[in-house]
Amino acid sequence: MILRQADETTSHSTKLSKNDSQVAGYQDRRLIIGLTGGIGSGKSTVAALFAEHGAGIIDTDAIAHFLTQAGGEAIAAIHAAFGNDYLTEGGALDRAKMRALIFSDAAAKQRLEQILHPLIFEQANAQLRPLQPSPYIVVVVPLLPESRTFRQLVQRVLVVDCDEHTQIARVIGRSSMNEAEVRAIIARQTPRADRLRLADDVIRNDAGLDRLAEQVAVLHERYSKMQNSN
Ligand SMILES: Nc1ncnc2c1ncn2[C@@H]1O[C@H](COP(=O)(O)OP(=O)(O)O)[C@@H](O)[C@H]1O
Ligand SMILES: [Mg+2]
Repeated sequence: MILRQADETTSHSTKLSKNDSQVAGYQDRRLIIGLTGGIGSGKSTVAALFAEHGAGIIDTDAIAHFLTQAGGEAIAAIHAAFGNDYLTEGGALDRAKMRALIFSDAAAKQRLEQILHPLIFEQANAQLRPLQPSPYIVVVVPLLPESRTFRQLVQRVLVVDCDEHTQIARVIGRSSMNEAEVRAIIARQTPRADRLRLADDVIRNDAGLDRLAEQVAVLHERYSKMQNSN
């Protein structure tokens, strides 16, 4: 995927060649951080804090929303696979209905992911290019533990972690979901311990926003140096 993207950036050549791998090598030197965590752990909040330090941010959740809005790139394929039932009258993905379906139907979940994941990855890659001048790049990928493709894209994994009760309280606070619904989502996500095992860096988000900002500032210094020493 990276090679293919590099290939596209070399207008004088369309085939893989020495030249292309040099371009790919240049791209590989950019530090790309994969930011992950369970629902409500604070990924979006952490990403916003990194953005304040000047980091380039790519948010695969936002990309998924964009792809599944009315007229979005994924809609035709979703319509072909699931029919009209899972689209709103306006033609966007009906998220609540789809969420209910994929909770009870593993094959449907897989079908949806087969449509969305390649499109999300393609879009994330496309967004990397204009972000090249930023000191390092943070890619928010909730599904990083499940996605080998994204783990290969990133050079480091940063996990935002908090206690489950904090997680649940925060999600209830920001959405219309109740505790049982949030627990059901958490139960289907990668277990906390497994996610933490993937981490190069961990941000603890059990305290207030000031503590969170402090940890981001420390990591910003670290990532900026890593970038410079490459
Ligand atoms: N340290 C914190 N203190 C208070 N509220 C927080 C903190 N971190 C996150 N939140 C709030 O908790 C909710 C979930 O955080 P969010 O960043 O949206 O999580 P995620 O993107 O991982 O789902 C949001 O409403 C956010 O404003
Ligand atoms: Mg988020």
